[in-house]
Amino acid sequence: MLTSVSTNQQADLVGDLDEAFTARVTELLDSIEERLAESAVADTDFVTVAAQHTIRAGGKRFRPLLVVLAALLAEDVDEDALIRAALVMELTHVASLYHDDVMDEAQLRRGAPSANQRWGNLVAILVGDFLFSRASSIVATLGTEYVQLQAATFARLVQGQIAETRGPLDGEALLDHYLRVLADKTGSLIAASAIFGGMVAGVGEPVLKALAAYGEEIGVVFQLSDDIIDIASDSSGKTPGTDLRAGVPTLPILLARRSTDPADARLVALLDADLSSDADLSEALGLMRAHPAMAEAREEIHRRAELARGHLAPLPEGTAKLALAALCDGVISRSS
Ligand code: IPE
Ligand code: IPE
Ligand code: MG
Ligand code: MG
Repeated sequence: MLTSVSTNQQADLVGDLDEAFTARVTELLDSIEERLAESAVADTDFVTVAAQHTIRAGGKRFRPLLVVLAALLAEDVDEDALIRAALVMELTHVASLYHDDVMDEAQLRRGAPSANQRWGNLVAILVGDFLFSRASSIVATLGTEYVQLQAATFARLVQGQIAETRGPLDGEALLDHYLRVLADKTGSLIAASAIFGGMVAGVGEPVLKALAAYGEEIGVVFQLSDDIIDIASDSSGKTPGTDLRAGVPTLPILLARRSTDPADARLVALLDADLSSDADLSEALGLMRAHPAMAEAREEIHRRAELARGHLAPLPEGTAKLALAALCDGVISRSS
């Protein structure tokens, strides 16, 4: 069931492609799926259950998908290395989700109770560390260059998360801070996924650079979409308004806050309040959903998705390139 859930979501992201190519992608993702659960097996049942909890809850497997698509730029690819590279990216991602849900006091993740909700913050943090250690052992089998990229990526991701909680530096504009946080906390790992795929494929430096630029940009688009979904969607598997309640100033919120229209006074007052009451949160969500800032944020997503697509120019022509381009539309339509 897990596989079919994620495969459907991935089909939505890449659209209709050549049948043989799609079958190959699905087969690789199925192998990754199997090995993900295995790689979370620990010395005790408790840790295994807690570590597999969020993995088994599903997820889009966006980062493994990117590794696969970029790796398929090569005609001949070492499939086992490809699978290990994808495992490293997803395990690093899932580890960061365990920690993120503690930071955001989230109750729901992938449609299931978050680990912090189920077992408390201490277990959630330590299980995140455990999964990260699993990612480390696997990346070591790929070689030093992979280890270095994963370490640098995780350092960026964590610093992005810290920057989000600390707020802007002295003199830094709110919007600049927000975009820096997005690139660091999310763009970094998504870029690394595209690069890992390219490394497994053995592509040359210009293509690796293009994959890095594409991954970074589509990663930012992905998080911009996620920030819209936090406001607009009741079916994301996460609690709507988590960012609003946590006071995370996402793009739609920043844009709405700029408004000097007296009709927005109530919304701005709510955004300034702590929104711990469910009634206030749902009122703020209703006002945000109807606000023109949502359309403005969606325009920014379109603009940046086109930038991502543009970075693909140096890639060799073929179905893998078309799939990476289709992903730009997939990421847009997620939040439209
Ligand atoms: C959630 O990532 C955290 C972000 C960086 C937006 P995903 O939206 O990829 O979450 P899953 O893996 O599908 O659950
Ligand atoms: C999460 O950002 C980024 C990382 C996990 C590094 P968010 O806090 O926006 O992600 P969700 O909405 O909880 O998935
Ligand atoms: Mg969060
Ligand atoms: Mg967060």
